[in-house]
Amino acid sequence: MIWNRETRYTPYNAWPKSTLPALTAQVATSKWRLQHHIQPASGLLNDPNGFAYFNHQWQLSYQVFPYGPVHGLKAWQHLTSTDLIHWHDEGLAIQPDSKYDSHGAYTGTAIPVGDRLFIMYTGNVRDADWNRHAYQIGAWMDTDNQVKKITPPMIMAAPAGYTTSFRDPDLFERNGEYYALIGAQTTANLGAALLYHSSDLKQWDLQGELDLPAELRGYMVECPNLVEIDGQPVLIFCPQGLPQTTLAYENIYPNVSLVGSQFDLDHVKFTAAGAPTQLDAGFDVYATQAFNAPDGRALAVSWIGLPEIGYPTDSENWAHCLSLVKELTLKDNHLYQNPVIETKRLREKAQVLQAEVTSLTGAFETELTLAADEQVRLKVATTDAAHYLLIDLDSQTGTVTIDRRHTGHPFAEKYGQTRTTQVLRHTALKLRLIIDVSVFECYINNGYTTMTGRFFLDDAPTQLQLAGNVAAVSGTVWNWRK
Ligand code: FRU
Repeated sequence: MIWNRETRYTPYNAWPKSTLPALTAQVATSKWRLQHHIQPASGLLNDPNGFAYFNHQWQLSYQVFPYGPVHGLKAWQHLTSTDLIHWHDEGLAIQPDSKYDSHGAYTGTAIPVGDRLFIMYTGNVRDADWNRHAYQIGAWMDTDNQVKKITPPMIMAAPAGYTTSFRDPDLFERNGEYYALIGAQTTANLGAALLYHSSDLKQWDLQGELDLPAELRGYMVECPNLVEIDGQPVLIFCPQGLPQTTLAYENIYPNVSLVGSQFDLDHVKFTAAGAPTQLDAGFDVYATQAFNAPDGRALAVSWIGLPEIGYPTDSENWAHCLSLVKELTLKDNHLYQNPVIETKRLREKAQVLQAEVTSLTGAFETELTLAADEQVRLKVATTDAAHYLLIDLDSQTGTVTIDRRHTGHPFAEKYGQTRTTQVLRHTALKLRLIIDVSVFECYINNGYTTMTGRFFLDDAPTQLQLAGNVAAVSGTVWNWRK
């Protein structure tokens, strides 16, 4: 397939009926398919969308282009769950089939209002000269998962002074008033986030531009998100083009979090309480979406994938996955991330972590503690001794390094094949490592830092190997039930 404007933006109903079943059948044979992470049946998955609790279920959609492993005409693929770990595919929730979203039903969010779910997303349109138009479109989903788009769009264009790179509304409610925080770019090419306000979900007015610190703006802010944790606001966003001197990151684009002490909605002023940090110190996290769930938790899901990077599964006509659902907590103004407690239900057959554990089934988990001032090396492997994912733990220097150089299927090499993160020195180090065939999620020191990424071995991993002072490690390994 040659991917050009025409093929990327062919309306879904103009594709031959046989295309999707053929692609899905091909993708199903991939040795890199995940057992538990959300992945596309075919084509490309990107940002999580519309994460909410509604109709007695968790609701989660993702950006999808079903016809190939490229960024083409995007829709919302909708999933529901009762436990945040098993998801049921509900099909396409929002299709790019109107004049306001003809070139993509882009990222957005959702909040329950009465007995319906209110959605706001970006309608991406290209005109005859391929100039972009961005509409912020409202829609209602009912308890039968039927979505009705509202016309005209809630917001017809970015205000004066901003470009048409204007997208990804994050809806939230405060004291009965509604707000949408929207990613934007000034005509001087600076990233921005614009806050809109509405009392009735019909009339939306610009409240103002968020006072993001100048050095944190990059040239475009994608996917801004605001959550409240223990009364403190936390901002999560993707400032494309952020200088790597502002924040040490190696991925093509960063996903940043900023913990605040106060968010003054009237004046659109965010008071930071800590330094900006990379949300994830691994290779592949982007476009994280977070919301305040009615059970009191702040929950987040990330896209595990990055824009503009080829992945080995591209040749199999699929790309990317979502992260596990993570709970966000705060301690001393630091953001912690951990898989939601429900994730432990996937564990079965506990084994003691030893120098070699060889009976694993592709999806598994280990939790370990390395005593202070020790070094140990962990390999995630198959029976092929030449290929593995390497994790070096050093509780003397307080570093964790993940190395994808020996996996056999390199990608994104330009952005480096190792990632190192710094935690406390001379202190016991805790690691929770989750492996699901071709994705790893590392939670370090109870979620103080996370490191997430894809890795591609010739087969699904079945072994964990420890080298170094194995006696300094105590841990447990579980397979994940199918
Ligand atoms: C981020 C992003 C969003 C946009 C969506 C389109 O990955 O570029 O800004 O809404 O993806 O799929």
